[in-house]
Amino acid sequence: MSLLITNIGELFTGDDELGILHDAAFVVADGRVAWVGAAGQAPAADERLDVEDRAVLPGFVDSHAHLVFAGDRAAEFAARMNGEPYTGGGIRTTVAATRAADDDTLRANVARLVGEARRQGTTTIEIKSGYGLNVADEARSLRIAAEFTAETTFLGAHTVPTEYADDPGAYVALVTGAMLAEATPHARWIDVFCERGAFDGDATRAILLAGRDAGLKLRVHANQLTEGPGVQLAVELGAASADHCTHLSAADVAALAGSETVATLLPGAEFSTRSPYPDARTLLDAGATVALATDCNPGSSYTSSMPFCIALAVREMRMTPAEAVKAATVGGAAALRRDDIGVLRPGARADAVVLDAPTHLHLAYRPGVPLISRVLHDGVPL
Ligand code: NIG
Ligand code: FE
Repeated sequence: MSLLITNIGELFTGDDELGILHDAAFVVADGRVAWVGAAGQAPAADERLDVEDRAVLPGFVDSHAHLVFAGDRAAEFAARMNGEPYTGGGIRTTVAATRAADDDTLRANVARLVGEARRQGTTTIEIKSGYGLNVADEARSLRIAAEFTAETTFLGAHTVPTEYADDPGAYVALVTGAMLAEATPHARWIDVFCERGAFDGDATRAILLAGRDAGLKLRVHANQLTEGPGVQLAVELGAASADHCTHLSAADVAALAGSETVATLLPGAEFSTRSPYPDARTLLDAGATVALATDCNPGSSYTSSMPFCIALAVREMRMTPAEAVKAATVGGAAALRRDDIGVLRPGARADAVVLDAPTHLHLAYRPGVPLISRVLHDGVPL
C-alpha cells in the first residue's frame, strides 16, 4: 500500500541536498519515504493525501524527556516565579511520589504525556528513568518507558536519594552495580546529572564507564546550572549528546565543535526556571551540532511542546527558524545517533508533520497556536 502526500506548499526535508522544496510531494510505502520531488512529477500511488498548500516537515525528535513520574510541582514553580532559585532539590519530592505510585498510575501519566507530545508533532521521544532511585523503581520506570519508545535512558544518577545523603559513594556503587544490572535490559542509554550538588566529575566518569561496559550508550546532563566538567567528559567519552549546555566556557564550545557530541539545548528549562538561555549562536557559529528538546519533567520544564521550544530558540536564542526546525528534527536524531528519522528523504521513516500554515516560519511567528494539523507516523496519517 503506497500513499502520495501532495500539494505541499513548502516541504522542509531537513536533508542538506534536498533542502526546502515548493509545490512538492512525497510517496510513502511500507512506512518509509519512497520518493520526494515536485508535485507535478510524482509517481502514481494507491492513495492520495492533498494537504492544500500547507507546509510539511519531518516529525519532531524529542531527544530528552523525563516522563516516568507521579505528581507535579506546581507550587515549586509558583515559588520560583516569586523569586526562588531552581536547584534541582525538588527531584526528591518527585522521587517520593513516584515510589508511592502503582504501575498503572505511572503508565497512564507517560501515556498522557506521549499523547500530548504526539499531538504537537513529536514522532520520536526519548524517555528517562530517574525518579525511582532504587533498584526496583528504576527498573520499573524503564520497563514502563520501554512500552512507549525504543529510546530509553537509565538515569539512576539523577540525584543522591535521601537515604544515601550521608554516603553518596555508596549510592554511586549501587548505581554502577545492582541498579545498572537491573536497568540494562530495558535501556539503550545511560545518563548522569553532572552538577554541583548532584554528581561530580569523578562520579560521572565512573557511572558512564560502568554503563558503557554494560553495553549502554552515553548522554550527559552537563553544565545546566554552573560551569563544570560535564561537557568535557561527554566529549572525551564520546557521548552522543551533552544536554543543557547553559554555562559553557570557550573550551567547552571548542570541544563540542570539534566532536561528534551534539549540544542539546533545552530552553523550556530556562523558561521555567527563569534563567539565562544557552548561547546557541556561539555553538552554531563554532560548528557544533545543535539539537532542541523539551526536557519535559515536573520540576524544571513541564512542557511536552517542541513547537514551544522552537519559538523560544528563535526569539530568545537567536536561532533562525530553519536552524531551530533542523535542531528539533535532524538535530534530535543526531543526539540519538539515528539517521533514519528527522529527515524526509528516500529511505527514511515516514514520520512527518503537516502544519496549519504555509511555511515553517509560522512555528516561531505564531507561538502558542496549535499549528499541527496532521501527524504521519511510520507513513500512517494519525
Ligand atoms: O533536566 N537537571 C536535572 N534533571 C531535570 C530536572 C528534574 C527535576 O527538577 O525534577 C532537568 O532539568
Ligand atoms: Fe533533563
